[in-house]
Amino acid sequence: MDLLLDLDAASGTTLRKRAEHALREAVRSGRLAPGARLPATRTLAAQLGVSRGVVVEAYAQLAAEGYLVTRRGGGTTVAAGAAGGLGAPGACGAASGAAGGGATAHAADAHGGLAVDRATVTPFRAIDDAPPLRHDLRPALPALSGFPRRAWLAALGRALRALPDERLGYPHPAGAPELRTTLADYLGRVRGVRTVPERIVVTNGFRQGVDLLWEALAERGARRVALERPGWRGWYETAAAAGLETVPIPVDRDGAAVELLDELGVDAVGLSPAHQFPTGAVLSPERRGALVAWAQRTGGVVVEDDYDAEFRYDRKPIGSLQGLAPDLVVYGGTASKTLAPAVRLGWLVLPPGLAEPVARVQRRVGGAPAPLDQLALADLVGSGALDRHLRRERRRYLRQRAALLEALARELPAVEVHGAAAGLHAVLVLPAGLDAHAVAAASRERGVALEVLDDPDGPPALVVGYSNVGEHAAGAAVAALADAVAATTAARPPHRRPA
Ligand SMILES: Cc1ncc(COP(=O)(O)O)c(C=O)c1O
Repeated sequence: MDLLLDLDAASGTTLRKRAEHALREAVRSGRLAPGARLPATRTLAAQLGVSRGVVVEAYAQLAAEGYLVTRRGGGTTVAAGAAGGLGAPGACGAASGAAGGGATAHAADAHGGLAVDRATVTPFRAIDDAPPLRHDLRPALPALSGFPRRAWLAALGRALRALPDERLGYPHPAGAPELRTTLADYLGRVRGVRTVPERIVVTNGFRQGVDLLWEALAERGARRVALERPGWRGWYETAAAAGLETVPIPVDRDGAAVELLDELGVDAVGLSPAHQFPTGAVLSPERRGALVAWAQRTGGVVVEDDYDAEFRYDRKPIGSLQGLAPDLVVYGGTASKTLAPAVRLGWLVLPPGLAEPVARVQRRVGGAPAPLDQLALADLVGSGALDRHLRRERRRYLRQRAALLEALARELPAVEVHGAAAGLHAVLVLPAGLDAHAVAAASRERGVALEVLDDPDGPPALVVGYSNVGEHAAGAAVAALADAVAATTAARPPHRRPA
């Protein structure tokens, strides 16, 4: 197998750099087509008259950049969709428009434009006896198959190349300045957040951010916090871990009943104003005003969980609460819904005087997240690749939501659907008297995973996500759920007439 590469014409100071450059140009220009097999390293080294190590390193670098795919024992090939230049603006995740076609390109499209090398993946060993999961209707996840692998890899490659050696030391406990600056701009543009980079702390996801925040507030003397009920379980778990007393604040169709805050006597309140989890309610303008007034009057801290604000379908955008009162509200966000939980990056935007204490707690518990990941995220956001990804994913969610709602109307007409105007999940209110936990257990037996809406005061209800249920699978998923509902209804003890 011959490959014409002109190292003399290639730029670069070392042989390895010139080999990388020549190979990259061959792929970018389309001279090496997607799927094309490259010579073995020994063969190419002999052809070029260089040591084998030069070629091994050049292949590894181009694989890291996403141009090549290396399979153990299977040789090295040009990645699907690699032509056109990964570094070129606008090329991130654009595999569907790239040359290639055929089965490889198709498989790669389903993975953010990058061929997934299953041969090298060790399958997980099952750790419980649960029946195999056929339909994943859990609400917390974005579409995992939509993760922009190619764009992420390219961003990571650029971050690694740009990072000077001295930045490989311990990172700043509040996070990489590049990401904090990019986030300040992005959150201002997309969510109406008003801040400066110095008030942002980058965390390992929102949950860890709240952990740090509760700890910092407890150190300042906070004792009691009000949390939405029904609400995100993480609020309660993190507050309890920091030794704070938790007080539930009820939620209705206008969001959390913040007018109760005065009588609850709390130091802080945690809530999700733009899209309450799990009910989907939006905090009404009156309550937003009342909440800000409470914080002003009492010095209480408002913590805003803006977990999935990028996804809304048939209602107008709702700006962040933080934008109304940047000096009173802690704003929290995460990459877990826009990209994937595996990214493990989140951020807190803090009022004056709180960024320092939170960063101090972060230093104490191990420091900021990996700088390389932070810089990759900064690149993804700053280059516009995240916006493009979100546009694509919104279209997906619209289709999948429509398919799920259609199947529910057909198969489960007695179930009421709420909270589907935004986000990635809906609430299904079950017929009165049904045990939601029993329905969830019966669903799991049928291969369907979903969550129960935990509200002892409300009707039985389930929380179902549609991000990982493709439009063609929605019918089967809902049929299995309908079967579980029927089985649970049949198993109910007969209604006894009063004597
Ligand atoms: C409502 C809500 N808030 C926050 C989070 C936390 O996200 P992270 O993965 O960033 O910790 C989740 C995760 O499932 C969530 O559902």
